[in-house]
Amino acid sequence: MTGFTHRLAQLDDLDALHALMARAIAALQADFLTPAQVAASAQVMGLDRQLVEDQTYVLLERDGVIAGCGGWSWRATMYGGDASAIVRDPRPLDPATDAARIRAMYTDPACIRQGVGRQILRLCEDAARAAGFARAEMMATLAGEPLYRAAGYLPIEHVISDPIDGVTVPLIRMGKTLDGRL
Ligand SMILES: CC(C)(COP(=O)(O)OP(=O)(O)OC[C@H]1O[C@@H](n2cnc3c(N)ncnc32)[C@H](O)[C@@H]1OP(=O)(O)O)[C@@H](O)C(=O)NCCC(=O)NCCS
Repeated sequence: MTGFTHRLAQLDDLDALHALMARAIAALQADFLTPAQVAASAQVMGLDRQLVEDQTYVLLERDGVIAGCGGWSWRATMYGGDASAIVRDPRPLDPATDAARIRAMYTDPACIRQGVGRQILRLCEDAARAAGFARAEMMATLAGEPLYRAAGYLPIEHVISDPIDGVTVPLIRMGKTLDGRL
């Protein structure tokens, strides 16, 4: 991992982030889903602007170009981009009893397998831990599962999405404790 710097995403990054996510969804899910499922995913995935507004959305850059992004949240929403039909639940979580959410992890297809996702995940976990959370969970795509497993997350529940234009998408709720113990 050389030459990467990180910072919190700002609202004027949104256009670049949307473009990166569209590239990642189209290119990196193709090994895991059918073309119809990739198209359905594109409708429910993507950026949740709330994460940027909450200043819990991180990006990694190299030479001023965004290589990847991802966030965490102290709100109850599990997953879903701004354009998705998924009902938002902005209720604040209780760090004493709830798991922080890991949200919207994407790496530019030009930058995959260079540790970008792992580094962003680590930054998110550190921030959630600093906010008092002892556990983190996410609703993982099949494309995200290998990264999360490599980072110590274990499956909790296999889920099938509600139909999107008649197509369902497999998801996996995954989690781990943030003190390193599973
Ligand atoms: C998931 C995603 C963010 C991973 O990004 P990345 O920057 O390439 O991940 P990293 O380089 O940090 O990978 C760390 C480790 O995770 C595992 N891993 C990541 N992608 C993998 C893949 N496609 N196949 C197998 N293992 C993988 C490996 O163990 C890897 O370590 P290694 O490269 O030394 O073997 C990226 O593939 C992506 O944007 N996918 C499409 C969007 C998506 O589905 N996001 C998840 C939403 S829940």
